Amino acid sequence: MVDYRPDKAKMAQSFAAAASQYDDVAVLQRQTADELLERLSLTTMTPKTILDLGAGTGRNLALLQQRYPQAQLLAMDIAAGMLQQAKKRYRQDLGLKRWLPGQNHLQAIAGDAESIPLADNSVDLVFANLSLQWCDPKSSFREIHRVLKPEGLLMFTSLGPDTLTELRQAWAQVDDYPHVNVFFDIHDVGDAMMASGLADCVLDVEPYTLTYPTPMAMMRDLKILGAHNVNEGRRRGLTGKTLMSKVVSAYEQFRQDGLIPASYEVVFGHGWKLPQATQKPEADGSVHIPLSEIKRR
Ligand SMILES: C[S@@+](CC[C@H](N)C(=O)[O-])C[C@H]1O[C@@H](n2cnc3c(N)ncnc32)[C@H](O)[C@@H]1O
Repeated sequence: MVDYRPDKAKMAQSFAAAASQYDDVAVLQRQTADELLERLSLTTMTPKTILDLGAGTGRNLALLQQRYPQAQLLAMDIAAGMLQQAKKRYRQDLGLKRWLPGQNHLQAIAGDAESIPLADNSVDLVFANLSLQWCDPKSSFREIHRVLKPEGLLMFTSLGPDTLTELRQAWAQVDDYPHVNVFFDIHDVGDAMMASGLADCVLDVEPYTLTYPTPMAMMRDLKILGAHNVNEGRRRGLTGKTLMSKVVSAYEQFRQDGLIPASYEVVFGHGWKLPQATQKPEADGSVHIPLSEIKRR
């Protein structure tokens, strides 16, 4: 597995700074969250405690609460600014419904997925949409496994190495610095899940492409998402105008049908705290490959 050390303080800062504008541009995040919620309906579980790990601005909290009205929701994020936004959004989304009898109040907890500040065996469902790609897979899956109850389930999406491949290639024509975050391969993710003790792990990959009028529009959105380069070893200091215009013109080679594409490799995964005695067949016709059958490329 590659050595992966994102600059955590920098990342938390960058996400916190993005919090107020994040929802305007989080198109991919909404799509993958909806798909993840859809996949949740294939399970018959009724979780009592749900942890939205890397909850961001909290877009998925009300949706989880509507699906599981009796559940206690925990929103956790490493960026305090994101949690502030999540609490506000949850109040707006649920409105007066949050005072209905039987509703549990949201608990917002600042915390790191690699060292989750919760007790062992305390959560039924961990929901993590596009947050685990910023974490060390071994530590985060180990922590998730620890906090899950015996019947507990992890459902997540993450990003694979083919994410933002056009931007990576465009920068490679300009200089030798890493300008795009490095994401783990599905096999590394699978290995880390199994090493953590998670059982009946299933992973699959879906390609997504977002389109923009210009490379600059795409890079602006990335910045607002807080998802711009946070790798150690990145080029220090401001990226100058000349460099920027070079990368923009290198990116133009990918323009298709008048639009600039940005590719994302989205990894969907789930795993249980303990092996399930019987696996239900998938109802959506999708092909899920058990990790034991995934061969290294
Ligand atoms: C792309 S956003 C996704 C937010 C939300 N899950 C959604 O679907 O909109 C990723 C979030 O993960 C958080 N994050 C990154 N690393 C984290 C870590 N180690 N522990 C907890 N949260 C983390 C970021 O602060 C950010 O809010």
